[in-house]
Amino acid sequence: MNKYGIIMDHLNLPPVPDQLAKIVLETEVDLTKAQNPLPVRVLTEGGRPYRSRRTPRIGLESQLGAWVTENITDKWDHVGMAKSTPVDPIPGGHPQDNKRNGPHTDCTRNFLLLYLLDRSNPDQDTVFWQEKGKPIYREHSVYVNEDPTPTEELIELERVTFPLNTWCYVDSRVVHSVENILGRRTALHIGFWEDPFDVFPKNPFEDQAQ
Ligand SMILES: [Fe+2]
Repeated sequence: MNKYGIIMDHLNLPPVPDQLAKIVLETEVDLTKAQNPLPVRVLTEGGRPYRSRRTPRIGLESQLGAWVTENITDKWDHVGMAKSTPVDPIPGGHPQDNKRNGPHTDCTRNFLLLYLLDRSNPDQDTVFWQEKGKPIYREHSVYVNEDPTPTEELIELERVTFPLNTWCYVDSRVVHSVENILGRRTALHIGFWEDPFDVFPKNPFEDQAQ
């Protein structure tokens, strides 16, 4: 059983209906309308820089919110389409340049229910990390506003390959990245501040301070 990125097959959540999946897939990225902060991040690994891909999220609450409330939970904060988007490459950069959504904690939620609808390659792993000498659970926006971040300061905790058309649940208080995005990655995202499924630790910040 994974601890930080869980494939939610045991909860029997219903699949996203085709007509709603179509809305997600046909939504265009408009960076000026993205719900999440979108800095271009330059990180480093092995002393070589790489740029993180961005994952702008476009709100679809008016089209999908009622279905999510009725079929999944009414505890959501946002419902939207998120699409991995390349940035300008760094000439001579690290091989991970523009292939990785670099390590971070999320800015706008604590938990994420994700339903992957399209991907260019199946081996796009979600990886959870702990920074050496730091707690596992971190504040929001870790690494989003600091750059460069040396990726070798991170210890891999867990690696999950999220399947297509499957509900997957992420504790986004833990530093995470998505690796090896060679092209497309489009998902429905439902964001939460509280954990409606009661599967992640309630007060990890207090527990890890003891
Ligand atoms: Fe994230």
